[in-house]
Amino acid sequence: MLILDGKLVAAAVKETLKAETENLLKSGKRAPQLAAILIGSNGASETYVASKVKNCEEIGFTSLLVRFDETIDEASVLHKIAELNADDSVDGILVQLPLPKQISEQKVIEAIDPSKDVDGFHPSSAGKLMQGLPSFIPATPYGIMMMLEFFKLETKGKHAVVIGRSNIVGRPMSILLSSNIPYGNCTVTICHSHTPNLKEICLQADILVAALGKPEFVKADMVKPGAIVIDVGITRVADDTAKKGFRIKGDVDYNEVAPKTSAITPVPGGVGLMTIAGLLKNTLQAYKTNTGV
Ligand code: GUN
Repeated sequence: MLILDGKLVAAAVKETLKAETENLLKSGKRAPQLAAILIGSNGASETYVASKVKNCEEIGFTSLLVRFDETIDEASVLHKIAELNADDSVDGILVQLPLPKQISEQKVIEAIDPSKDVDGFHPSSAGKLMQGLPSFIPATPYGIMMMLEFFKLETKGKHAVVIGRSNIVGRPMSILLSSNIPYGNCTVTICHSHTPNLKEICLQADILVAALGKPEFVKADMVKPGAIVIDVGITRVADDTAKKGFRIKGDVDYNEVAPKTSAITPVPGGVGLMTIAGLLKNTLQAYKTNTGV
């Protein structure tokens, strides 16, 4: 059984991006810049955004963190996005989700200029992805594709089962795995909360992607021997014995599932780190397109 170590892959991706950034700076160009908007003080969102900013710094990108109070109105957020859209020094814009209930996620996503949509959530980006056109790929599915490539896990002709149909992970993942691209060409089944025979379908998976956000949902009796298992879950589960008062759990019961697989991503240390790698790659791509490099 191969542990798909996200740290290893993310470090390799970041090395390449860092070298590219150094070359840009050497030739007198500015560094790529990511703007992140964080609303409220959701603990997990704080951690993710801090990590995104830190990773930018590590590879020589600059970043701009815009913070709003939990009670901010929608118009102010949209106004800030318009400002960032118009700012030539900003290559990529992301608004960390989830948002407080007074703010429409859809309006916010659609307010971002598609040329700066490094999360790949804008309908324009999603539509391009669906049609096989160049676009920003949502960071988590992008990171998973990089992982499959890094470990040379052949996917062609395999049956991939994706649990979860979110716009952030499940749906774009299913499109990528079924596309005629390297590490695509799978036959894909998408499962969700209304799938009655989930266990039987999962048992047919050569590649199982768990992206439903339910800790330790996938058990050993749902996994075909020798399957590749990709765990996208990162849920905080209260645990008094842990220093922070919680532990991060994946959607897969790792201890019982791992021995049955040919390859599996750990949590933490798997897909989560790849999400950042995907975001950084998208930011450099936005920089190149928008500056004409
Ligand atoms: N919330 C959970 N995942 C993501 C992500 O990939 N991007 C943003 N902006 N918010 C998220």
